Amino acid sequence: MIARGLLVPRSRGEEVRQDLQEAGLLRPDLAIRREVGSLVLPLSGHPDEVPASWGEVVEREFREVRRKGPVRYRDLLPWPEAEKELLPRSFDVVGEVVLIRLPAGLEGRKAEIGEALRRFVPGTRLVGLDHGVHGPDRRRVVEKIAGTGPWRTRHKENGVELDVDVERAYFSPRLAREHARVAQAVRSGDRVYDLCCGVGPFSIAIARLGRAAQVTAVDANPDAIELLRATLERYPVGGRVSPRAARLEEFLPGAPPVERVVMNLPHEGIKYLPSVARTAVAGGHLYYYEVVPRSEFGRRGNTLVNALSPVGTFAVVAERVVHPYSPASGLALFEFERRG
Ligand SMILES: C[S@@+](CC[C@H](N)C(=O)[O-])C[C@H]1O[C@@H](n2cnc3c(N)ncnc32)[C@H](O)[C@@H]1O
Repeated sequence: MIARGLLVPRSRGEEVRQDLQEAGLLRPDLAIRREVGSLVLPLSGHPDEVPASWGEVVEREFREVRRKGPVRYRDLLPWPEAEKELLPRSFDVVGEVVLIRLPAGLEGRKAEIGEALRRFVPGTRLVGLDHGVHGPDRRRVVEKIAGTGPWRTRHKENGVELDVDVERAYFSPRLAREHARVAQAVRSGDRVYDLCCGVGPFSIAIARLGRAAQVTAVDANPDAIELLRATLERYPVGGRVSPRAARLEEFLPGAPPVERVVMNLPHEGIKYLPSVARTAVAGGHLYYYEVVPRSEFGRRGNTLVNALSPVGTFAVVAERVVHPYSPASGLALFEFERRG
């Protein structure tokens, strides 16, 4: 059948496939097309949702995938096709927990949808309706719609089973590739600050590679730090991760400068950016995340460099959309190098 796909060079095919999958934009009922030097990944949803830097949206003939069981959770719902069109395509799997956001018009049918997801995703114990993250600690408000048991679970990411509690501390399974990318950039002997670390997926990925001399993981939410400590009990990583339950306001003033600084507080991080940037040594790198409107893509980095000029000379050495955030915005990474 003819459908939309994303044309990407073969060398980036697997990376972009995982990005699309994490964003719920990879169409599961069509097979990936192989062309000379390229792959075409079948797309779900509107092409505007795909960041332009990921590849070119094209139309192609795709082969339909024949599977024994259902290809999508909606196949398990005995609804008319027109009603199924209202169902979200994507949902998140966090260990044994599945989370889904529903439009208001479908909340009355949440139990049926939850049960379909519980049956569809292998290993699911509990399905929650996701009411978003709220408050300074970015805790997720969730409502049980199918299954049983606690929100605490273990989620496998980058080869590690992280202790996670979807209600008590922030965690998103859509950042796994980003955690791995930043970890790969760390050089031998680097000291690292993982600011707003949540349950510590950046810290653990960095420490597991074994190159960092020390990783200090800071979060204001004591529950997040307790979960990180629980993971570290199972993966001691040579004692290289030091978890600290503290607000940035307490931690930053006395913090000596280091080679790598990560800060993932996408909506409010801007207010801390200058004091965070001060904690990077000359030649050090700062990984800063922000939700950016599409209209600002490609421009925001230089605006931030100018805003940092009272602190020092910074250059943008990488800028990318990690995943779409809303139809009009994306979660973007800005990697700065301090040049003076
Ligand atoms: C988006 S989450 C980041 C989670 C983590 N870095 C990850 O990749 O999974 C933001 C975190 O910032 C923490 N936070 C918010 N304000 C803070 C502050 N002023 N000082 C320290 N941590 C803060 C929240 O508790 C939350 O865990």
